[in-house]
Amino acid sequence: MRRGYELTVKDQARLDDHYSRQARQAGYPARSVYKLEEIDRKHRLFRPGWRVLDLGCAPGSWSLYAAQKVGGEGLVLGLDLKPAQLKNGEPRLFSLAADLLTASPELAEPWGPFDLVLSDLAPATSGRKEVDQARSLALVKAAWTWAEALLKPGGHFLYKIFQSPEGEDFSRDLKEKFNKVELLKPKATRSRSREIFGLGLGFKPGSGHCDQTSGYGQ
Ligand SMILES: C[S@@+](CC[C@H](N)C(=O)[O-])C[C@H]1O[C@@H](n2cnc3c(N)ncnc32)[C@H](O)[C@@H]1O
Repeated sequence: MRRGYELTVKDQARLDDHYSRQARQAGYPARSVYKLEEIDRKHRLFRPGWRVLDLGCAPGSWSLYAAQKVGGEGLVLGLDLKPAQLKNGEPRLFSLAADLLTASPELAEPWGPFDLVLSDLAPATSGRKEVDQARSLALVKAAWTWAEALLKPGGHFLYKIFQSPEGEDFSRDLKEKFNKVELLKPKATRSRSREIFGLGLGFKPGSGHCDQTSGYGQ
C-alpha cells in the first residue's frame, strides 16, 4: 500500500471479504482469528501444554486457534453468553455459557489455573461512542477480575478495549501487575475500528494497585 494512502470504503469492504473468506476456508468461524495470529507471530503467545482461558469466545475462532497451538497436552476453556462453534475434534477444548459480568471466576477454577487469559469481549454497540466505550471498559475490567483470580504467576493477559481516556488509565494501572504491558493494533483490525489490544506479559500476583470496579458481582 502506498504511504499516505487511505482505504476507501470499497477497499476496506474488499479487505474484510478477503479475511472472512480466508478464515472460512481455513475452518475458522470468524475473521478475528487473524488478529490473534498476528499478535501471536510477534509475541509467541502460546506454548505446548499451556492452559488458556478465552473470554468472549463465540463463535470460536480464537479458541480453535489456541487449541491447535497448545496441543494435546494443553487445554482451552472458552466462555461466552452465546454457544461457540467448537466442533473440530479438538479433544481439550471446553466451553461454558455464562455472563462474565455476573458470574464468578470460580466457575472456571476446575480447568485452571491458566497460563494465558484472552479477552476478545465486545459489547452490543449502540452507535454512541461514549456509551460503547463505557460498555467495553466494563467488560475488560470484568475480564481482568477473572484473569487476576485465575492466572498463574508469570502468566499473560491479552485484552481488547475500545480506545478512550479511561481505557488508557486501565492499561496504565495494569502495568503494576505485569512485567510489561504493550498496546497493539493488528493490521487485520478494520481501519475505522476504535478497538485496540493490550498485552500484559508476566503476571505479578499481589503487586500494586489496580482499579477493579468491574460490575462483576454487582
Ligand atoms: C468479537 S466476539 C469474539 C470473537 C471470538 N474471539 C472469535 O474469534 O470467534 C465478542 C464476544 O463477546 C461476547 N460477550 C459480550 N458480552 C459478554 C458477557 N457479558 N459475557 C460473556 N460474553 C460476552 C459476545 O457474545 C461475543 O461473542
